[in-house]
Amino acid sequence: MKPVKVGICGLGTVGGGTFNVLTRNADEIARRAGRPIIVEQIGARRDNPDCDITGVSRTHDIFEVARNPEIDVLVELIGGYDVAYELVMEAIANGKHVVTANKALIAVHGNEIFRAAAEKGVMVAFEAAVAGGIPVIKSLREGLGANRIQWLAGIINGTGNFILSAMRDEGRSFDDVLAEAQALGYAEADPTFDIEGIDAAHKLTILASIAFGVPLQFDKAYTEGISRITAEDIEQADNLGYVIKHLGITRATGKGLELRVHPTLIPKERLLANVHGVKNAIEVMGDAVGPTLYYGAGAGAEPTASAVVADLLDVARDISTDHRYRVPYLAFSEVNQHGDTL
Ligand code: HSE
Repeated sequence: MKPVKVGICGLGTVGGGTFNVLTRNADEIARRAGRPIIVEQIGARRDNPDCDITGVSRTHDIFEVARNPEIDVLVELIGGYDVAYELVMEAIANGKHVVTANKALIAVHGNEIFRAAAEKGVMVAFEAAVAGGIPVIKSLREGLGANRIQWLAGIINGTGNFILSAMRDEGRSFDDVLAEAQALGYAEADPTFDIEGIDAAHKLTILASIAFGVPLQFDKAYTEGISRITAEDIEQADNLGYVIKHLGITRATGKGLELRVHPTLIPKERLLANVHGVKNAIEVMGDAVGPTLYYGAGAGAEPTASAVVADLLDVARDISTDHRYRVPYLAFSEVNQHGDTL
């Protein structure tokens, strides 16, 4: 079978992890995809010491990857809004499928990107944009496809949960734990996005759009971070039988959708109160299935790469089946089946 040829743009934490998973598990991936998935070109300015790309074509100009006629899928792992947006739009204009881990890009420019992709007949897949390695987008879109979703609530920023857990369990200071999260590659390039709830609001916007079939509306999200949580707050909550967690919550109310990110007091015995470290967990309530829970690593090189490569498998199957079984990305209309808009 003809291989699927991939161009990876960005060789940071997730780019390096994606390259390593694709090469290490190449045989299993080829078997599952029905054809090999090979890295044809890498667009990156900096080297990644955790990743040996000897023998792979390398360019410093990421736009060269978007124009390379050999490439079927561009994997966007550079992050940010502006350059990533231009890169993805150029790849789509050139008829390439796109896989991205970029939640900011999808939350803010997704409506336009999906429109362009639909016109060109290409896929834009973004499982890695939400909750790292947890396949929550596929679960919402496919596994729970029979349900009316009533609400979802979860811990969707690994760095924030890492900080709150270490403050509570180890008595460490906010700044000290944030520095460790940055060193481990969990935090955003600008960690304000993690600690002020912006990253979680990006992810919640995407989840709400899929869960309720509405357009992406990041500007409607209520966003509050954890930067003002003190050791005393955590101790007081503990004395009262609660744990402070930073949650993203979206709910169909019948009069509209709620979309909010903020610190929340959770009774100690609840599942979400017992999610520690960089882990994420999302509870989803469907009318048919009832409550469901998705749990796992919310950030980090290979957990996020796991989701990127799962999307590459979907693209490979899509190419093999001539797009006949493609799952719609958002399937939204301005007003969803409950009559809810944000
Ligand atoms: N900075 C993000 C987090 C990375 O900590 O959750 C994964 O999206």
